Amino acid sequence: EDLPSLAGTMGDTNLGVAIDSRETTGSASELLLKHFTQITPENHMKPEAWYDANRDFAPHADAVALLDYAQENDLDLYGHVLVWHSQTPEWFFQDASGSPLGTDEASKQVLRDRMKTHIDAVADWIASEYGAFGSETNPLTAFDVVNEVVADGAENADGLRRSEWFRILGEEFIDLAFEYAEEAFNVRNADAGVERPVKLFINDYNTEQDGKQDRYAALVERLIARGVPLDGVGHQFHVSLALPVSALDGALDRFAGYGLEQAVTEFDVTTGTPVTEAKLIDQGYYFRDAFAAFREHELFSVTVWGLTDGRSWRVDSGAPLLFDDSFQAKPAYFGAAGGELPA
Ligand code: G3I
Repeated sequence: EDLPSLAGTMGDTNLGVAIDSRETTGSASELLLKHFTQITPENHMKPEAWYDANRDFAPHADAVALLDYAQENDLDLYGHVLVWHSQTPEWFFQDASGSPLGTDEASKQVLRDRMKTHIDAVADWIASEYGAFGSETNPLTAFDVVNEVVADGAENADGLRRSEWFRILGEEFIDLAFEYAEEAFNVRNADAGVERPVKLFINDYNTEQDGKQDRYAALVERLIARGVPLDGVGHQFHVSLALPVSALDGALDRFAGYGLEQAVTEFDVTTGTPVTEAKLIDQGYYFRDAFAAFREHELFSVTVWGLTDGRSWRVDSGAPLLFDDSFQAKPAYFGAAGGELPA
């Protein structure tokens, strides 16, 4: 199929896709290189992916494969994720005897040191293998520094998730994550003369929903007020056909005034089941309207959370992505590209 590149319709905004090494060869790679200018590792740069069973820092083969692939094909790489409550080794939050860390100052310092050691190890290893950040050979341009730190409900005045990070350190853990990342990516390992080459993002889901959005905005405002080195706000946007596109537009509007970058980081749109032709066409219109809204904002990047439907974490809720399992463009692609759709 000789379809126009979707990335070519995005102006200065990178079009990204979440992948693992399966997408770096064959037909998947061909499709990817035609339509996308950026990749996100779907799983293999999460905290637990960097460690072996002995707790030694041991980069996963897939992290290597994706960095190599980005470097060879001139793609940007959006890192995901440095500090998260999920997919993180349990020993991060334990003392030497395997008991949960307490909240005394000595325990807090253990966790601060662990966070710093982790962030330093990731940044130093990538820079040692791929060159300084901001140099020609290093594809990394952004990282989700903290992911999903906002609470789903309104029960806490601070609006933050009660994770192990929060239990032990309180809100301070968010500031520290950005400060450590700033030093490791944008100071110590930055190419001479390139100013802050790695954009440091906060990322969350349901930011299109009222309560969560308020809590997210309040946190971002506190971080700005405290001078935390935060570059950008990420919106995952895992949605379904039932959510009006105006909610996505509203979220991007809400955060546009902060002087920060914004990114759509994990976009997918489930149709519900069974998946019918009619729903796939509705989905085409959804992608058309959503991408039109995305183009109206100045975004760092727009990333879809997977290349083909069968590889999506949400495939059971109905065909959420742009391409089918035969690598064929769905109505979603034609809509996203702003083209004609069947009635
Ligand atoms: O790799 C193992 C495999 O060896 C094993 O046989 C198999 C059996 O369950 O599991 C495989 O690991 C799975 C991994 O995906 C790779 O496919 C994990 O169980 C599974 O939990 C993991 O799911 C990922 C999920 O994050 C975990 O939290 C999804 O692929 C990934 O799309 C999803 O991504 C998250 C973002 O990081 C943050 N925002 C939400 C988003 C969706 O949940």
